Amino acid sequence: MGEKERIEQLRAELHRHNYQYYVLNQPEISDMEFDQLMHELQDLEARHPELFDANSPTQRVGSDLNQDFKQVVHKRPMLSLANTYNKDEVREFYQRVEEGLSGQPFQICCEMKFDGLSISLHYLDGRLQYAVTRGDGVQGDDVTANVKTIPSIPLVLPEGSGYPHEFEIRGEVLMPWESFEALNREREAAEEPLFANPRNAASGTLKSKNSAVVAQRKLDAYLYYLLGEDIPSESHYDNLQLAKKWGFKIGEQMKLVNSLQEIYDYIDYWNEARKDLPVATDGIVLKVNSIAQQRSLGMTAKSPRWAIAYKFMAEKQTTVLREVSYQVGRTGAITPVANMDPVHLSGTIVRRATLNNEDFIKKFDLHIGDHVFVEKGGEIIPKIVDVDLDARDENLGPRVEFITHCPECGTPLVRYEGEAAHYCPNDTACPPQIKGRIEHFISRKAMNIDSLGPETIAEYYRRGIVRDIADLYEIRRYQISGANRQKDKSATKILQGIAESVNVPFERVLYALGIRFVGEIAAKSLARYFKNIDALAKASLDELLQVNGIGTIIAQSVISWFSNPQNQWLIERLRSYGLQMELSEEELAAHSDTLAGQSIVISGVFAYHSRDEYKALIERHGGKNVGSISAKTSFVLAGENMGPAKLEKATKLGIKVMNEDEFLTLIKEK
Ligand code: IVH
Repeated sequence: MGEKERIEQLRAELHRHNYQYYVLNQPEISDMEFDQLMHELQDLEARHPELFDANSPTQRVGSDLNQDFKQVVHKRPMLSLANTYNKDEVREFYQRVEEGLSGQPFQICCEMKFDGLSISLHYLDGRLQYAVTRGDGVQGDDVTANVKTIPSIPLVLPEGSGYPHEFEIRGEVLMPWESFEALNREREAAEEPLFANPRNAASGTLKSKNSAVVAQRKLDAYLYYLLGEDIPSESHYDNLQLAKKWGFKIGEQMKLVNSLQEIYDYIDYWNEARKDLPVATDGIVLKVNSIAQQRSLGMTAKSPRWAIAYKFMAEKQTTVLREVSYQVGRTGAITPVANMDPVHLSGTIVRRATLNNEDFIKKFDLHIGDHVFVEKGGEIIPKIVDVDLDARDENLGPRVEFITHCPECGTPLVRYEGEAAHYCPNDTACPPQIKGRIEHFISRKAMNIDSLGPETIAEYYRRGIVRDIADLYEIRRYQISGANRQKDKSATKILQGIAESVNVPFERVLYALGIRFVGEIAAKSLARYFKNIDALAKASLDELLQVNGIGTIIAQSVISWFSNPQNQWLIERLRSYGLQMELSEEELAAHSDTLAGQSIVISGVFAYHSRDEYKALIERHGGKNVGSISAKTSFVLAGENMGPAKLEKATKLGIKVMNEDEFLTLIKEK
């Protein structure tokens, strides 16, 4: 077989395995075999750029070139549904349909209402052409590059499966609960703001300008509406079952019913059972199944007459506040937690709810013994949404006063200007802060020492074996093995994991240090810019601000971290154990600092590269792309039709204007 044929064969096979795994949940091969096939295809494609295919399975990894979304007008407007929260209105809907169809028999297709963001996918000859968000219903964002990274969305449909020549399929992009929780745990560790619910997370992710980020975020998609000139069936239900054969994931809860009573039963059943689904749902959608009947019922201005959404109520319960406790995070941030009488809420028993901060407590004038309303919406952590002041009686306890000292180490708390949270400033000796920092250090995206976990860290801390991250590298076998075979075996694994971590690249070491506000992305930018820890440690505020994506808050935090002698000593110890304190040769080779310290404005239309590509090139060579011309601008990279106002400003300030050729010569990419 020639390499071209092999490429085609691998593409078809990988598309099929993808479907088996992500849509049907029935993998036929192991992950390792899948990876092997993928690598083989990647190698072959690298050797045959002329055989590039935008829908190849290799294209699912995304790219970190910045993209700006193009606006696309929907072929058919994306309407929304009329909502209802009660069964009487469901009955009224049913009666309207009966009347509208003048007594003809009809069926209703009951489905879950998935709580993500709607997407429209367009296929031509079995290949994904483009994907658009709902936008305002008339036009939306072209998010094709991001959508391609969602593994359950087929890029190429299996030959001969009977799909129409051209069609549109709509559905919902979702972040499964599991991915959502994992993502928030990571964000918490990196001190990045948490997503409130899976819908926000899915939407934030799908609109990310960096498709490589989307590829990592584990989105899923359920499809629920097939449209086109020659769709195969006059039954909505059958169309979706066929779509499943073409490779789409559909809601398996779909059910055809023949009476109002069956609709009520469906609602009651799924109102409970939905709690076990892997994705968030916020209601039930009812649709007249026959497409001919849908046509005859038609639309109102806003929504179809043949469908309605029944929305579940966010569950709310009252219970009694018994105590407020305080948690200390790895950065010293204090979180007040309400401890309440246990109460059933959305399928779980809830005893604790976050109280956010002091202002939140004051807002409710919270007292011990208060009757509080607790709600569990899209958020995982239940929250207190109100206090029942009328229920207060002589048993009411004292007003909740925010603590003044750290509950773990007794240090007086501080509240920085402009921040809602209180902090324990004793970062070097407050136990939860120390343990939290070590947990962050070993976490997957940091040093990835997965043989260690929070319990082991807590044990080592308690026994005095580990008091900071550098102590990990001083652990001796006799300290952690002994008792039995099991313990010996795990000691071997732990020591091995720690020893191997010295190879973790510099940028992740930097992230692992847990400098406040330095998340994964900031760590990467800093590592690329300064190339080694000594340069970073010496950097001034101005220099730090030259780095892409680094603002005053991060810059000040970096300076303050490195100015602390304890941290300087920590770095020296880590260095002595062999941790990576500089970029590797390969990383250095891929980047240059030709443009280091330069602020560059891009203007006009270009011939060789897109604006986004130029932006990426500037960053790769150490420069910074800025939006507007000022005295600080180093030069303007100008294409055709540079705006006259910009040109005038540049001339006035004496700033050099460089064309594409000059620029590419400068960075040696011509
Ligand atoms: S059908 C014309 N089916 O709910 C009918 N929509 O308010 C188009 N949604 O924008 C929608 N699950 O984002 C339909 N099984 C389902 C759905 C569903 C979730 C969303 C969709 C739509 C909104 C309607």
